[in-house]
Amino acid sequence: MLLKTPLQVKHLTLHNRLVLPPMASKTSTADGQVTDAMLDYYRSICAGGYIGLVITEHAYIHMGGKAGPGQMSVAEDEMIGGLTCLADTVHSCGSKVICQINHAGSGTNPNFTGGLQPIGPSAVGHPKKTANVPREMTLEEIKAMPALFAAAARRAKAAGFDGVEIHACHGYLLNQFYSPLTNHRTDDYGGSLDNRLRLICEVIRAVRSEVGADYPIALRLGGCDYTYGGSTIDDAVYACKVFAEEGVDLLDLSGGMCSFSVPGRAYAGFFSDMSEAVKAAVQVPVMLTGGVWSAANAEKLLQKGAADLIGVGRAQLRDHRWAEKALCECR
Ligand SMILES: Cc1cc2nc3c(=O)[nH]c(=O)nc-3n(C[C@H](O)[C@H](O)[C@H](O)COP(=O)(O)O)c2cc1C
Repeated sequence: MLLKTPLQVKHLTLHNRLVLPPMASKTSTADGQVTDAMLDYYRSICAGGYIGLVITEHAYIHMGGKAGPGQMSVAEDEMIGGLTCLADTVHSCGSKVICQINHAGSGTNPNFTGGLQPIGPSAVGHPKKTANVPREMTLEEIKAMPALFAAAARRAKAAGFDGVEIHACHGYLLNQFYSPLTNHRTDDYGGSLDNRLRLICEVIRAVRSEVGADYPIALRLGGCDYTYGGSTIDDAVYACKVFAEEGVDLLDLSGGMCSFSVPGRAYAGFFSDMSEAVKAAVQVPVMLTGGVWSAANAEKLLQKGAADLIGVGRAQLRDHRWAEKALCECR
C-alpha cells in the first residue's frame, strides 16, 4: 500500500504519505502565543504517530498580516519558546512537523491587526470577501516582505520544526500577488505571470538564505482560482516549475480565491486535476488535499499518480483517531 510507504523530502524521512494539513485551531493567546489548549489539540490528533507529516496551522509573520483572533504568531523571537513546545509535542507523538508561515494581506481587518490597515498588491478586495479593500502596497513595502518571511522561518527552525511552509493560497497575501483577480499592478510585480510570481520567488530566496541549503521548504500554492479570469492550472504548472527551480522541496497544492474547496466538487481529491498536471512537470514531491475521507480514497489518488502525499483535514478534525483507524483497517 503506497499510503504506508516512506517518502523522502530532502533529508527528511516521512514514515508514510499521510499529512495533517494546516488547520487553524484559533487557540493562541491574544498576542499569538501557543497555549496548553493548542498543545492538547495536537497531542490528541497526533497520538500514536500514525500521521507521517503534520503541517501546523498558519502563523502570522507580522502583526499587519494577522488573519484573525486566536491565530498563532511567529512574528517575534518571544514566540520561540511556545513554538518549541509545539514542535516537541508533535515529535513526541512520532510525526515530523512543518510550520506554516503566513501574511494575510487583505484577508484581515484593523480589529485583528492592532489598527493597521490591510495591505495588498492592489486596492482590490478578495473577490468573494469584498468587504476588505486593502491599501495598495508601495514598492518599499513589497521589498520588505521577504525579510519578514525569512525571520519567521528562522524562528521556526530555532524552535525545532523540521521545515517551514510558505502560505501562498486561499486568498492571502502571496496568493493575492499570484492571482490576476487581485493583482492589477503595472510595475514589475504585476501583469505577466512571471511578474506575479516575483514576490513569491523573492520570499523563497530570502527564506532559503536564512535557513540554509539543507532545511526543507514547502510552499502551499493556491494554484488555480477555478473562477473566470483567475489563475489557471496551466499557471500552476508553470509556477511550480519555477518554484522547484528556486529550491522549494515540497509543493503543497490547494485552491486560490476559491479557498480550500471548489464549488460543485465533492469528490475525493477535488484538486487532483491540478496536482496531477503539476506532478507530471516537477521532480519534487507534490501534496494534494481536499475531500479525502478514507484511506481507500487516499490510496487511489496516490496509485493514479495524482500526488506523492495526501492531506486529510476535516476527517481528522472530526475524528482524532481517524489516522489510526484508517491505516489499521487498510492493508
Ligand atoms: C477549520 C479549518 C482551518 C483551516 N486552516 C488552514 C490554515 O491555517 N492554513 C491552510 O493552508 N489551510 C487551512 N485550512 C484548509 C485545510 O488545510 C484543507 O486544505 C481543507 O480542509 C480541505 O481538506 P479536507 O477536505 O481534507 O478537509 C483549514 C481548513 C479548516 C476546515
